[in-house]
Amino acid sequence: MRLAWKITTLSMPALAALLTISTLPSRGQQSTPPAPENEQIDVGQLFATTCGWCHSDGGRAAGKGPQLMDTKRDDDFIRNRIKHGKEGAMPAFGATFSDAQIEEIIRYIRALKPHEG
Ligand code: HEC
Repeated sequence: MRLAWKITTLSMPALAALLTISTLPSRGQQSTPPAPENEQIDVGQLFATTCGWCHSDGGRAAGKGPQLMDTKRDDDFIRNRIKHGKEGAMPAFGATFSDAQIEEIIRYIRALKPHEG
């Protein structure tokens, strides 16, 4: 017991230092965190987690939703579908993503290529 107490006491300064470091504002940001929509997004990652369970293989194949790779739809249609979804088919993401993020998703869809090999 005694020894355990001693170890705890000894490590206190280290703990305090750690806490100080982890509470320092990172990247020189102001105290309020940036709105989520302003954060950089990894579209591939986002697509896999948010859209992938309906648009299979990163959008390369049909799932519950249609294949998106090589879509003949224009940007307006895609933008509109992502923002407003479709009743009973696809949820709306207009409140989830900023316009800029939706543009990035459109670019991601346009850049889709079949897997090699
Ligand atoms: C719950 C399943 C589901 C999820 C999640 C989903 N979708 Fe869809 N999506 C669909 C269905 C179903 C359709 C076909 C709607 C229709 O009948 O026109 C569709 C259609 C689309 C279309 C139009 C394709 C076309 O040719 O008509 C795009 C673009 C699209 N989805 C993008 C996305 C993106 C981007 C995400 C993630 C942010 C996403 N979807 C998430 C089910 C889903």
